[in-house]
Amino acid sequence: MRTFLAISSIIVAGFLSAIFIGFDTNESKHSLDYDDEQEMLDNQIVIRFSHVVAETSPKGAAARKFAELVYEKTDGKVKVEVFPNGVLYNDNNEWEAIQNGNVEMIAPATSKLTSRYPRWQLLDMPFMFPDHQAVQEAYEGEIGKTLIEDFKHDNVKPLIFWYNGFKQITNRKYPIIEPEDFERTHFRTMPSDVIKEQFHLMGASTSVIPFNKIYRNLEVDFIDGQENTISNIYTKKLYKHQPYLTFSNHGYLGYAVLVNRDFWDDLPDDIKGQVSQALAEATDWNRRHAIEINDMHIRALKRTEQTEIYFLTQEQEEEWKEKLEPIYIKFKPIIGEELMEKALKLREKYSH
Ligand code: LMR
Repeated sequence: MRTFLAISSIIVAGFLSAIFIGFDTNESKHSLDYDDEQEMLDNQIVIRFSHVVAETSPKGAAARKFAELVYEKTDGKVKVEVFPNGVLYNDNNEWEAIQNGNVEMIAPATSKLTSRYPRWQLLDMPFMFPDHQAVQEAYEGEIGKTLIEDFKHDNVKPLIFWYNGFKQITNRKYPIIEPEDFERTHFRTMPSDVIKEQFHLMGASTSVIPFNKIYRNLEVDFIDGQENTISNIYTKKLYKHQPYLTFSNHGYLGYAVLVNRDFWDDLPDDIKGQVSQALAEATDWNRRHAIEINDMHIRALKRTEQTEIYFLTQEQEEEWKEKLEPIYIKFKPIIGEELMEKALKLREKYSH
């Protein structure tokens, strides 16, 4: 009986204290709700930004800079998640991904847009841009504005151009110096008819291969060579299977930063302004650092001692230009006389 009374009084005491202390449902509910970080996450806008290159390349570094600036300028209301190295989407499926809104942003090489927008091949014309200033004037001036209009009817909107650098030639067989050295070689290209024609005029055959498959195709000798910027050659270790590199500066590789149009149009005006400002600053950073990053990677490449580096003499460069001249005639009707003339004027202005 005494045991029964003791147990009953413990249960009653426990029940009473639960009523006064433990069963305060308002208190526990309030403490869960009151978490401003959770609240912010609920409304956070996420921009998934997919690209195919290394994080330390000019595009990879600019994407990270953009992410930092967006977070800072929007007080964390917008977060850019960057997916580098083609981990999410690659050359073959990133266009579809952005069209469908599976990612919000991509920044493909302009050459990869040429099958949709043939006029963009202007930017692939060999020896069209004598130096970086000529490229900047093309991207940020009238030529860039005209090209961007081609996207009017798509669910993808180009926001701005980003910079990488001039392309150089690598090869596994022997040094490529004279145009004839291209004969009987097989080159990887990006999907652009101008680039394909450039190699064909030199006597080489070509295959279009996505960026992330270049290394493997060099490793198994399916291709003998490829053209790319030093930063891509170095960061993707392409030099491991390419003992010869020619500094030809024959074409420029840059990017169009694209956003899903529906996503962009739905952004509140203040947020759109802050993201645009972040993009302008990231572009400024990219323009200032792209040359420096490529220079840093050429020094690192030299230190590997795995590639012999050749420079074209003025005379050799003239031979390349002469051999490639027919491209200008063949592609003029595709690019349009007006655009072509504008670019040729730029070429003249910046020719040294
Ligand atoms: C390539 O495919 O060689 C380049 O477009 C890669 C890149 O995005 O720089």
